[in-house]
Amino acid sequence: MNKCKTSREIGGMGHSLKRKEDIRFIQGKGHYVDDIKLPGMLYMDIVRSPYAYAKIKNINIEAAMKVPGVIAVVTGRDLEKYNLHWMPTLMSDTQMVLPTDTVMYQAQEVAAVIATSKYAARDGREAVKVEYEPMKPVIDPYKSLEPGAPVLRPDKPGKTDNHIWHWEAGDKAKTEEVFSKADIVVKEQMHIPRIHVASIETCGCVADYDKINNHLTMYMTTQAPHAIRTVIALVAGHVGLTEEKIRVISPDIGGGFGGKVPVYPGYVIAIAVSFLVGKPVKWIEDRSENLQADSFARDYHITAEMAGTKDGKILATRFKILADHGYTDASANPSKFPTGMFSIATGSYDYGTAFMEADAVYTNKPPGGVAYRCSFRVTEAVHAIERMTDRFAMEVGKDPAQLRLDNFIKKEDFPWKSPTGWIYDSGDYHKGLLKAMDAVNYHQLRAEQAEKRKKGELMGIGISTFTEIVGAGPSKDFDILGIKMFDSAEIRVHPTGKAIARFGTKSQGQGHETTYAQIIAEELGIPAENIAVEEGDTDTAPYGLGTYASRSTPTAGAAAAMAARKLRDKARKIAAYLLEVSEDDLEWEPGKFFVKGAPEKSKTIQEIVFASYTNHPQGMEAGFEATHYYDPPNLTFPSGAYICVVDVDKETGAIKVRRFVAIDDCGNIINPMIVQGQVHGGLTQGIAPAMYEELIYDEAGNILNGTFMDYLVPTAVESPKWETGHTVTPSPHHPIGAKGVGESPTVGAPPAIANAIVDALSPYGITHLDIPITPFKVWKALKEKGAI
Ligand code: CDP
Repeated sequence: MNKCKTSREIGGMGHSLKRKEDIRFIQGKGHYVDDIKLPGMLYMDIVRSPYAYAKIKNINIEAAMKVPGVIAVVTGRDLEKYNLHWMPTLMSDTQMVLPTDTVMYQAQEVAAVIATSKYAARDGREAVKVEYEPMKPVIDPYKSLEPGAPVLRPDKPGKTDNHIWHWEAGDKAKTEEVFSKADIVVKEQMHIPRIHVASIETCGCVADYDKINNHLTMYMTTQAPHAIRTVIALVAGHVGLTEEKIRVISPDIGGGFGGKVPVYPGYVIAIAVSFLVGKPVKWIEDRSENLQADSFARDYHITAEMAGTKDGKILATRFKILADHGYTDASANPSKFPTGMFSIATGSYDYGTAFMEADAVYTNKPPGGVAYRCSFRVTEAVHAIERMTDRFAMEVGKDPAQLRLDNFIKKEDFPWKSPTGWIYDSGDYHKGLLKAMDAVNYHQLRAEQAEKRKKGELMGIGISTFTEIVGAGPSKDFDILGIKMFDSAEIRVHPTGKAIARFGTKSQGQGHETTYAQIIAEELGIPAENIAVEEGDTDTAPYGLGTYASRSTPTAGAAAAMAARKLRDKARKIAAYLLEVSEDDLEWEPGKFFVKGAPEKSKTIQEIVFASYTNHPQGMEAGFEATHYYDPPNLTFPSGAYICVVDVDKETGAIKVRRFVAIDDCGNIINPMIVQGQVHGGLTQGIAPAMYEELIYDEAGNILNGTFMDYLVPTAVESPKWETGHTVTPSPHHPIGAKGVGESPTVGAPPAIANAIVDALSPYGITHLDIPITPFKVWKALKEKGAI
């Protein structure tokens, strides 16, 4: 654990301060989009398609318009008049706002009903009669590529198939050569299933267009308010809504996890209606709409191979991906990275070569591909490498922990260049795994397992030693729709020494109001409790790219430290002036400057700030404010060593997670309690896809589990006791040595669980099971192998 340099009263880095924001949250006083009520506000509800692929023959709005309170029904044809029926996706594809002739997935928006109450809007929705001509959909991504498959996007000029893009990383020829000569090659086909972020709060907005002043205030559930403002300006600039006339406010958000990054049609329709009728329009999805229509995550089919020597040295990996994107590529990846950071899939291991390729396809499913609590596809990458590492260990007959220890990148080899070109900043993988093994009593568990196996009992131990890649990103490589992925902080200290700091990021429950204040407290010595933190209002906050993919600490957290350091430099000048000494004669300790060798001659930061307004040196700018836009020199590479122990019931396939130890390394820790909370939540969101969650479609494209009755989100009942700990390997390039942490547990947990279950079943020759690993899947696999 990094040592605290500040007192508890100041509350800088390393203090487990209670979360400031929880005072309002635990009293039910959070302020969410649905809490906003404006005079004359209208409500919007959305008619959705029951078919996955169908022609729209007719939309009859007559009965709907007779419902008391309904004032309009908007269709694609209405939006077409303003050229608003299509919009760009974040991956430069195009997406329908409302369809004019064809629906492409079940639950797609078909029309919007506007009414004076939400109940009238819902009644109106039920009364809209849509006549469809269903067509045979394309659901299987492999079939989507077959010759003769219907071409799903004829709207795209020249498109004659359903292929979206091809991507490659690594050295193909060298990898093939290593594979052809290797003693051992292992191969598995795996599917990382389509899942949903299922945040507590669904998506929604209140679009408030003021005709008199030609000004739009858009309250919305977005993780990236500034980027959204720019997108609205680019789309609506031609009707006079230029960027200074748009204010995006993202109030409290009840969980984002990547699902609140994309622009959904509902937002655009609400803006268009408010613009046309000059009244505020509220749209809030219900739970099923959120689950069925909003952006999905994952859905990668991976052919994974690993080559190595018979004594257990990994030599190369090869991964071939088929990515199912639904009917449009609406991923939320940086522009240059269509598969996000999948090429981190060489993991924590030191070997020379790798090759990865991916093909993306259209199907009749909802669009998306968001980074669900993961840094742009790193979850898929980690699952592939960690499963294959266990698979390889099994093949060579080596203990998977020992195999990892033998193949890890060594701590003295950092910064380390991966075969796919990433420069890992720092890490100590041996330390992390040894700590986890010690915590779980690994060798004793293996002895217990051997005893149990003799009795035919199934016990499994699974390891995942992952490397994450967070903090997108350095502007030379990272942008979204051309906007570089820096982030920002502005600190304004008032004359009495209390401050407000504003950021381009947006917390969705991560505790930024507390931790950003702690970073500034660390640098300036102003108590964290005296620093208000504000995010999510584009009229007040400096421009930034928002919060997702664990980027806030690596980018805006760094910006906070850099802005505070600018202020400390100014404070030194003022202190020198007040104490009548040269700047070089001063020393800093958190909260004050004092004269070297004469500590009684000092000025506190509060005295210095006051002087900046009342008695500053002539010629110096008055006041105490600084802004910093931080363009990170590299990403940060957090890591973790997770060990999961399971007991499996042979007769029923029931799985019990007996223990789960998670040792994380996110560099220097700002707030240990918040980090622990992030890890607990993330682990629960890791067990979810490993054992419970998957969006399932039938051949006709019907979603079979579109409600929480069937889509199994784990609760405290399903969650094991999480045993957490950490190692600290500071990032050498980050101003406060911190790395991100929010995503790590969601990324690292699924393969630890899958590896444990497969380990339990391995005596029967089972080498792989796709997640979610349900009791039925286990029972079926055992049955097929003749174990029961
Ligand atoms: O971008 P996001 O806020 O989701 O992820 P993050 O940067 O990993 O931060 C999640 C929370 O953990 C924030 O409140 C951070 O300030 C905190 N954190 C920390 O206390 N120490 C770290 N080294 C990393 C994050």
